[in-house]
Amino acid sequence: MVMVKTIEALQEAKKLLQGTIGFVPTMGALHQGHLSLIQQARKENDSLIVSIFVNPTQFLEGEDLDAYPRKDEADIKICELIGVDILFMPTVESMYEADELCIGAPAVRGYVLEGEKRPGHFDGMLQVVMKLLNLSGATHAYFGKKDAQQLALITQMVKNYFLDVNIIPCEIVRDEKGLALSSRNVYLRGDEKERALCLSSALKRATKLVISGELDVEKLKKEMLEVLSEADRVEYVAIVSRDFKALKKVEIGNTIILVAAWVGKPRLIDNLWI
Ligand code: PAJ
Repeated sequence: MVMVKTIEALQEAKKLLQGTIGFVPTMGALHQGHLSLIQQARKENDSLIVSIFVNPTQFLEGEDLDAYPRKDEADIKICELIGVDILFMPTVESMYEADELCIGAPAVRGYVLEGEKRPGHFDGMLQVVMKLLNLSGATHAYFGKKDAQQLALITQMVKNYFLDVNIIPCEIVRDEKGLALSSRNVYLRGDEKERALCLSSALKRATKLVISGELDVEKLKKEMLEVLSEADRVEYVAIVSRDFKALKKVEIGNTIILVAAWVGKPRLIDNLWI
């Protein structure tokens, strides 16, 4: 594995790669969720690039940019073990200049749910993903369904800007009790880890109801909110189409159920595609 920190070193290292290039962008503090993406990309491509970059432009004022968990040493070892060809760990200075040209999230899909609660977050996310896709020269880029709206927006950016890359959606990885893995789970203390299970429990409850024939969005949301009373604060429960339009009735095969809630310090998100 070659570890590179500058754009020039990345371009140099890329000259040795052959065939298809799989790419997995991350913000580090790697867990099994990231690993599943990296392993899938390894299996499906001739070459593999992973990036670790805690992107400042996607954090809002007052969010956890400075406290974002960093585990560089462990991350480097993990990437080496999995057989990553190039690990790209750029500095903020090498990625950005002052007064940049920016692309923005779309007016509707980019400003509901996560986009509404974290205005500007998706602009910063798209900005860095555009840079990273271009820098990596990826033929296949892997993203988790855990961040469903992020995945939808990246897919739209690739389409709208005619980028020559295949976006590969990857399944959500959970712990044995159902908690969706996240770098922010390390902040969960005491009973919070137990209480955090209410997010996936609420999604399971909705699934059971859908299977039993209940398709009414308002009724499903009400049932989910009951399960979510274990959380300290629910930010949203939403049932939308795969392109994030509001639904009155669940459409099997075209629906995503999403939740965001605070449990202790971290704000957690989870979702289910049905
Ligand atoms: P990060 O939160 O580090 O996540 C990197 C990738 O791992 C994303 O595609 C995310 O959806 C995926 N992922 C995280 N937890 C997962 C889980 N439990 N199961 C499956 N996939 C999971 O998402 C970002 O970084 C950033 O926004 C980034 C795209 C790197 C741009 O800065």
